[in-house]
Parts: sequence; C-alpha cells; structure tokens
Amino acid sequence: MKKAIYILSLALALLALSCSQNTDVLIQELPNSAQEFLDAEAAFNGIPTEGNYHRKIPSYLNVLGMHVAQADNQKAGLGRVLFYDKNLSKDSKISCASCHKQSNAFSDNVAFSVGVEGNLTSRNAQPLANVASFSAHYSNIRGKMPLLFWDERASDVSVQSRQTFANPLEMGMEMADVVDRIKAQNYYPYLWRNVFGDFEPTEEQVLECLQEFVGAMGSHNSALDNSLEQAMELFDVPTITQIDTIITAFYYGGSDTIINTVVAGLPGMSLSQNRGRDIFVANCTKCHSPVRPFQEVFAACNGLDMEYSDKGLANLTGKSTDAGVFKSPSLRNIAFTAPYMHDGRFKTLQEVVDFYSEDVKPHPNLHAEMLRNGGDPNLHLTAQDKQDLIAFLHTFSDGVIANDHRFSNPFKK
Ligand code: HEC
Ligand code: HEC
Repeated sequence: MKKAIYILSLALALLALSCSQNTDVLIQELPNSAQEFLDAEAAFNGIPTEGNYHRKIPSYLNVLGMHVAQADNQKAGLGRVLFYDKNLSKDSKISCASCHKQSNAFSDNVAFSVGVEGNLTSRNAQPLANVASFSAHYSNIRGKMPLLFWDERASDVSVQSRQTFANPLEMGMEMADVVDRIKAQNYYPYLWRNVFGDFEPTEEQVLECLQEFVGAMGSHNSALDNSLEQAMELFDVPTITQIDTIITAFYYGGSDTIINTVVAGLPGMSLSQNRGRDIFVANCTKCHSPVRPFQEVFAACNGLDMEYSDKGLANLTGKSTDAGVFKSPSLRNIAFTAPYMHDGRFKTLQEVVDFYSEDVKPHPNLHAEMLRNGGDPNLHLTAQDKQDLIAFLHTFSDGVIANDHRFSNPFKK
C-alpha cells in the first residue's frame, strides 16, 4: 500500500515537473528569444553572425603551396563583434580595433597606442592585414611557420589575445572578467545561441571566435598579385613544378631564359617598379616576401641600434645572441601602416629606405642576409634606386580590405 502511494506521488510529481517545464518554455523562452533578437538588432547594423567569410586567394598562391583554411562564418561574425567591443576592456574604452584600425590595414597610425586608463603600449601595434591570408600565412608552409608578436612569443591568435586582454597597458582583463562582461551585455545572447546553441560563454569560445575573425583577414588584391597572376597566364605551363619555377624566376628576376627574353619585368608594372623589384629581390625578399612561400627568415636583427633598449627576443630567452632580434614581417599594405619598426621610429617609407641604405649599425647579431652587399650592411642606394624601391613597395597595397564591411565595426554606435 505504502509502495503504491509512493509510486503514485512520484508519478504526480514528475507530471507536475514536466508541466511546469512546459509552461516555462511557453511563458519565458519564446518571448525571451524574440527579445534577444530585438536587442541584437538594436545594437548592430545587420546581424553579424550572418556574414560570409570564405576567401579565394589568387591561384598562383595556391600553386605555391598556400591554402586557406575556410573560416567558420558564424564564429568569425561573432569574433567581429568581440574585436570591436569596448566593453571587454577594464575601463570600457578600448577594443582590439582601437589599436588595429581597418583604415591602416589593422595597425595603428601612432608609434605607441593608447590602452586602458590612458596607458601607452610598449611597442608599435602590428598590422593584421599584412598577409595574403592570415590563416594560410600562419600555417606550416615548406616546413616553416611564422609566429606572432614582435618577439614571436605567441603561437596563434588565441594565445596572443589571452595575453593582450591581460596586459595592463592594453586591455587589463583576465579572461574570466571578459566572460563576465559578455554575460552582462544584452546583444550577446542572440548571437551566442546562433553560433553555439546556448548562452554559456566560455573563455575558449571567446578566443576561438577572435581567431576565426582575424584568421579570415587577408589582402591579395594588390598590383603585385595581379601581375604575378598575369605572369602565370602568359605561359601555357602544364605542371605545378613548372609554374613554381616560372613564378620563382619572375619574382627573383632569376636566370630563366624565357622570362628574360619574353618579358623584361613583371607584367603591368612600370619601369621604376620593375627596377624596384630587382633591388627588393636582391636585398629584402628573404626576410620580407609578400609571397609567403618565398620568405625564409621570420625573425632577425636588422641593425637599427648598437645597443637596443628593447632587447626583443632576448627578453624571453635571456640569450645575448637574441638581443635586437625581432619579427621580420610580411610587407603587404606597408604603405598604409606607418610608423614603422617595433618602436615606430620611422615615419615614412623614405626614412626606412634611407636606413637600409646608409644607417644600418654593425650590431654583432646582425643577420647574414643584411651583409649581402659584399659584407657592407649598408646598400648605398642612389636617390633613383630609393624612389624605385618605394614604388615597388607600393605595389603591395590592397585597398579592398580597408573598405570590406565584413571587417568593419558592426555596432550602430
Ligand atoms: C592597446 C593597443 C592594443 C589593443 C587593444 C590590441 N592590440 Fe594587438 N597589438 C598591439 C601591439 C602593441 C602589438 C605588438 C605587441 C608586441 O609585439 O609585444 C600587437 C600585436 C598583435 C598581434 C600580432 C601580429 C603579428 O604580426 O605578430 C595580433 C594578432 C593582435 N595584436 C591582435 C589583437 C586582438 C585580436 C586584439 C583584441 C583582443 C588586440 N590585438 C588588441 C596593440 C594592441
Ligand atoms: C635579415 C632580414 C632583413 C632584411 C634583409 C631586411 N629586413 Fe626589413 N626588417 C627586418 C626586421 C627584423 C624588421 C623589424 C625590426 C625591428 O622592428 O626591430 C624589419 C622591418 C622592416 C620594415 C618595417 C615593418 C613594419 O611593419 O614596421 C620595413 C618597411 C622593412 N623592414 C623594409 C625592408 C626593405 C625595403 C629591405 C631591403 C632593402 C629590408 N627590409 C631588408 C629584417 C630584414
């Protein structure tokens, strides 16, 4: 008897529970989700998680071994919101975009950027759109993989972002605080459910979305890209190896007879730009190739000083042979990212070229690639050479990403 009553009351309790769950759904969840949608709609110009971040890079880059890992569109779209959200910093005044501005190929136009509470960064903000494809550039190509930050201390955007959030000069937030701030904004629940199916934000999800967004960036619509793509079309070459040889020869101004006789320089480029290319390939490509598979050196001492106040890689390793060693970046969009170097010491490309021409210091750690001019670190360029080199650097510019709304500020205000 007792047992029967127990079973009956258990069944009644279960029934009551399931009814109350159902009414919860009816009374709370439906109106909530509608409200969540309205909140998101009120905050943004369009729903950010509905963008398409898939990217097709020029075929010559594919041929040379660059392959884009396609972005997760929804995560990248959510990453866009996180990238522009000032609420994710200690004083709610700084977002990633404060220091990585779209109009400057996602770098800053000052030597040191303003972080939380008016602090200045200790180094120059690096551009993010200085690569043909972010995700492809920072992957293993021909056995090498470049790293992030001027001293290469981060392996990917997730590691980099965790450090940037926590940096007291930059965003001043532990990841747990970032998650709390996300939970406090009414525009996130709709987006989060859209991407992850629930609104239980985690540190990993935040970092993953930022990585998807930054990883989707890329600049491959430059005059140089058009020229190399045209160069490929000039020749009816059947095999990958042959295309590789031809592009390599084109790019290095090499010894391939077809190229030297049929085309005197890169198609579509001016005489000055082609002369600049010759100077660039002879002296700069190994450390700075805008075509990632041709870059061989990813960090070096380029002789800015005899005594570095910022020791670069040596700050991490403690090795004297790493003093003055900094990341050697790709130079895509370099015309948009002044000032230059880890401390933003040069305001113009003219100043950079003057440095490589006359002012390189014979630092003991100077990289061997800096001594190609018969052991003399300085190139002693003429005024015309300098002008030509700068003209070639301008062919790395891609105006498209600066106006691409998928990477712009999604907030209405
Ligand atoms: C207050 C300015 C500031 C903010 C805010 C900021 N950054 Fe940066 N960023 C920098 C500086 C300065 C560096 C170089 C730091 C160094 O090398 O020590 C940098 C470097 C980077 C790099 C490395 C690029 C490379 O080529 O190695 C990436 C990626 C990056 N930031 C992404 C982000 C993201 C994502 C956010 C937001 C979570 C962010 N940054 C917020 C200033 C900032
Ligand atoms: C041995 C490798 C090496 C060679 C060769 C070299 N550079 Fe550099 N370059 C670097 C390194 C490393 C940096 C960053 C130095 C720093 O900030 O301390 C740099 C920085 C730069 C920058 C600034 C990048 C930025 O985002 O601020 C420009 C522009 C540049 N180099 C152009 C050139 C040109 C043009 C040549 C050829 C004349 C050249 N470099 C040759 C290693 C090299």
